[in-house]
Amino acid sequence: MTDIPAKLSFATGEGGQLAGGASVAGRMSAARSAAGAAPLLDVRDLSTAFLTSNGELPITRQISFSIRAGERVGLVGESGCGKSVTGLSLMRLLPPQTARVTGEARLAGQDLMTLSPRQMRAVRGRDVAMIFQEPMSALDPVFTVGEQIAEAYRVHFPVSRAEARQRAIAALAEVGIPAPERRYDEYPQQLSGGMRQRVMIAMALICEPKLIIADEPTTALDVTIQAQITDLLRSLSERTGAALIFITHDLGVVAETCTRMITMYAGEIVEDAPVDDALTRPRHPYTSGLLRSLPGLSARRGVLPSIPGRVPAPGRMPDGCRFRERCGYAIAGCEAAQALLPMAADHVARCWRARDLWLPGSVDDMAAGSPVAHNLAAATGEIRP
Ligand SMILES: Nc1ncnc2c1ncn2[C@@H]1O[C@H](COP(=O)(O)OP(=O)(O)OP(=O)(O)O)[C@@H](O)[C@H]1O
Ligand code: SF4
Ligand SMILES: [Mg+2]
Repeated sequence: MTDIPAKLSFATGEGGQLAGGASVAGRMSAARSAAGAAPLLDVRDLSTAFLTSNGELPITRQISFSIRAGERVGLVGESGCGKSVTGLSLMRLLPPQTARVTGEARLAGQDLMTLSPRQMRAVRGRDVAMIFQEPMSALDPVFTVGEQIAEAYRVHFPVSRAEARQRAIAALAEVGIPAPERRYDEYPQQLSGGMRQRVMIAMALICEPKLIIADEPTTALDVTIQAQITDLLRSLSERTGAALIFITHDLGVVAETCTRMITMYAGEIVEDAPVDDALTRPRHPYTSGLLRSLPGLSARRGVLPSIPGRVPAPGRMPDGCRFRERCGYAIAGCEAAQALLPMAADHVARCWRARDLWLPGSVDDMAAGSPVAHNLAAATGEIRP
């Protein structure tokens, strides 16, 4: 066991607060703003708890990150880490009777958390839109897909039915639906799963939102269609400048589609980095563990890809680092509260060892004797640290 070096015993508390009060993520965001464009979305200390008969059940804790216009952020983590709850909280789609959301989420300077329900309805769809995994749950089988897209436009803009129809047809064409005039008059159940998801994307895009949150938009589709929908989201974001939060389990998709990757674990952000850094030089053992499960690296190493154990259930979070019980790098000191610490430009990680560890990514130097190979061997029990 190694003791915590004094220089790494930061004067930080829960959620990455520095002694001076500002969180590291907050300072990172401020540095970005100073360096260029102000963030389009600035999320500060967003926490969500569900209200149960036994009291509040905390689900996500002090989520802080920011996104600039046109950025595409992959939000990754195992099942139950809080990705969807984060997306739904940002959209204010969790019922206030069962969920309590605290913190700030400023979209173009306007705090979504303080808007009235009516104000939020005006923002939802027009400024920020969400695409879900299963389009059938969001489409109404009683109306044609064209009518539903046109209506999404008419809710926000005072146009005639004829004009809304023309816009909806143009949106169907834009998302690659052939014969859009004919498809306009078809019902959701007449379309394939891939076509339905394109319809959802058309509906999300028709008002030209600044931000799109896509929650596993391709999971229900077959592999070829998945790639088409992912390409479509990327190219639309590039063309329109809309920022994208892409919630997914597929790190390969993040590598191909996104500019940044945020890793969540057990209701917290544990790493936030430019995608190339995250993939090649992850700083958090959990991100590294996820990357090791990518076929490329596993095949080369011949190791089993899974991270041992499972995500702790809400209400049963361990003290200190929440990843501790599954982490091959855990040592004395990891039971202390972990803050998000700055690693490099635009890169933070919630691990006090992050600056000293060389962790394997999806592309790394696995030569025998390299720091990465040494640490991987230690983590997998081949040698002891
Ligand atoms: N309405 C709810 N009431 C109580 N707990 C909930 C509710 N919705 C989600 N949870 C819990 O909150 C945690 C986070 O759920 P969430 O759906 O955000 O996970 P996720 O990261 O999106 O997972 P997945 O990858 O499976 O979609 C889970 O433990 C889940 O069981
Ligand atoms: S703080 Fe310790 S237990 Fe947590 S990820 Fe870092 S090394 Fe692992
Ligand atoms: Mg989810």
